[in-house]
Amino acid sequence: MLVIVIPVLVLVCPCQGFPEQVPDTATIKDELLENKLISLLREHEARTASLFKIQNTKLEYLTNLLRSQEQKLYNQEILLQKQGAKLSYQETLLLQQRRTIEQLTNRHSRSKSFQDQNLRQKRNKSQPKTRRVGKSRLEKRRVGKTSDSTPHDVMLLRDAADPLEAVVSRISQQVTEIEADFQAFKTQTANDIQTSKTKTDNDINALKTQTTGDIQTLQNSNTQQDLAIQDTQSSTFVHWGSSTCSNLSGIVYSGVVGGAWYRHSGSATNYLCMTMSPVASSHPVTGVVAYLYGSEYETWDSYQFRVPVCAVCRSTLSTTVMIPGTNVCTPGWHLQYSGFIMTGTYFHDAGSEYICVDSKLENTTLGDASQEGAVLEYTVTRCGTLPCTVYSNNTVVTCAVCSK
Ligand SMILES: *[C@@H]1O[C@H](CO)[C@@H](O)[C@H](O)[C@H]1NC(C)=O
Ligand SMILES: *[C@@H]1O[C@H](CO)[C@@H](O)[C@H](O)[C@H]1NC(C)=O
Ligand SMILES: *[C@@H]1O[C@H](CO)[C@@H](O)[C@H](O)[C@H]1NC(C)=O
Ligand SMILES: *[C@@H]1O[C@H](CO)[C@@H](O)[C@H](O)[C@H]1NC(C)=O
Repeated sequence: MLVIVIPVLVLVCPCQGFPEQVPDTATIKDELLENKLISLLREHEARTASLFKIQNTKLEYLTNLLRSQEQKLYNQEILLQKQGAKLSYQETLLLQQRRTIEQLTNRHSRSKSFQDQNLRQKRNKSQPKTRRVGKSRLEKRRVGKTSDSTPHDVMLLRDAADPLEAVVSRISQQVTEIEADFQAFKTQTANDIQTSKTKTDNDINALKTQTTGDIQTLQNSNTQQDLAIQDTQSSTFVHWGSSTCSNLSGIVYSGVVGGAWYRHSGSATNYLCMTMSPVASSHPVTGVVAYLYGSEYETWDSYQFRVPVCAVCRSTLSTTVMIPGTNVCTPGWHLQYSGFIMTGTYFHDAGSEYICVDSKLENTTLGDASQEGAVLEYTVTRCGTLPCTVYSNNTVVTCAVCSK
């Protein structure tokens, strides 16, 4: 009979005594999941925003570049238009010059023919007189005079024609030369304009291609980042001895180190990173409780009795490990921080754990270290089973926190 009663009591008592105090694990799970999702979403949003900002800056820069190139092209076109106007003006001038020369040439030929006619008339007049040579002394004298002047007239005819013709032909030649120069200049300018246009077009096309490429790259990297965030089960870790996180991680919160008093032999052994924004419970303090103290460095150097700080960090990389015994990471892994393995010493009643404390041993004056709570001391190796070939005896142990 007794054997049957006891299990019934054992089964009944917990169910009747604490039905409302038993936490609903499903609710807690839901809440945790929700919190995690919210924090993931926030981080993703922040990252996307910053990415968009970078992208917009780059786009702005490229747009400005394109605009300045377009302005340059526009300026060049204006210049070309001006050059064109200059050319047509020069053409008009040249035409005018040509007309003047033609007029001059016409006038000259008219005056020449007039002179020729005069000369011919003179000759015609002189010829009959020549025929009458010997008829009178006066006539003879006149004839002599005339026959004297005839070669002079002929010579005058030739001489009067030659200098003017030379001048005209010289001017004509100059005009031809100017025209040739002008034609060459026109051709050259046209070529220059074409070359410049082609170059500008090429520049703009190259810039457009480059811009499109850059935008594509940015979009790709954006997609990759999104994928990385979505695919990543990012890891969290406590950055002991620091109130900040590395540039590979985001801060969740920072605070002070908590733990058990070093003389409480039955207490918990782990260190906690305590928030500086606690929300106190109104739950009554019942009979037997556990205690949570602060911590202090017991380093027997300049950090002695100082209050250690800590930060909880979320790495952008999926895996984070602490490597004791070294302050560098395995190749391919990224260092979050390095420092010393610290824990409570062996003769304390309370057990504790080995933690990796940043070598900067950051502290705060917010706590009073005189309480001697969960102490943190350097750890040194005792080699033997820990191979002395690798670990030198009596040496402070280093550590590294690495992510990948
Ligand atoms: C001069 O004489 C020639 C022939 O002797 C004649 O053909 C010519 O028409 C004359 N010219 C003038 C302007 O009288
Ligand atoms: C991150 O920090 C490490 C060391 O703390 C430094 O070597 C590295 O250049 C930093 N990276 C960036 C992107 O700031
Ligand atoms: C660290 O502790 C020392 C000594 O108590 C104090 O002078 C210093 O201000 C502390 N540093 C911080 C950041 O609180
Ligand atoms: C290590 O050093 C300690 C303290 O100096 C000493 O007692 C111990 O014998 C040493 N062990 C080895 C293996 O050298």
